[in-house]
Amino acid sequence: TMARPWQAPWPLLPILVTLVALTYQAGKKTFISIEEVPAESNHVKDTLQFVMDEYNKESDDKYNFRIFRVLKIQKQITDHMEYHFNLDIRRTTCLKLETTNCAPQEGELHKQIMCNFSVFAMPWFEKYKIKKKKCINS
Ligand SMILES: *[C@@H]1O[C@H](CO)[C@@H](O)[C@H](O)[C@H]1NC(C)=O
Repeated sequence: TMARPWQAPWPLLPILVTLVALTYQAGKKTFISIEEVPAESNHVKDTLQFVMDEYNKESDDKYNFRIFRVLKIQKQITDHMEYHFNLDIRRTTCLKLETTNCAPQEGELHKQIMCNFSVFAMPWFEKYKIKKKKCINS
């Protein structure tokens, strides 16, 4: 019949869909890696320094904030490298331009902030970019 030529290609469609889906899945598994890394590991210190410099630049607080505790660091590799930081930062006794003997503030000026940052990092070029920042006063 005339319908015949149309019938042949159709069984291919589900196969194609399945192939595309499988390729997509395989791609995800192959190209995304996330692992927890220690604060002392390669490039993490520089990236943390960048993050806090940016944080302090943007902050209108007259005191410097510093990392008090690192709760979690994850390194994510896709087509680029990204760090996810979970940090406890505190207001210090140092004014913006001071950098030595910066102890956390106590008493009325005590301030603790929990922050999550996602940072695009190309440490070998000293290039970083904060992609996400979420901070909550605690
Ligand atoms: C940061 O991320 C963690 C999960 O890794 C979550 O439990 C926490 O609530 C987040 N904190 C903020 C300030 O978004």
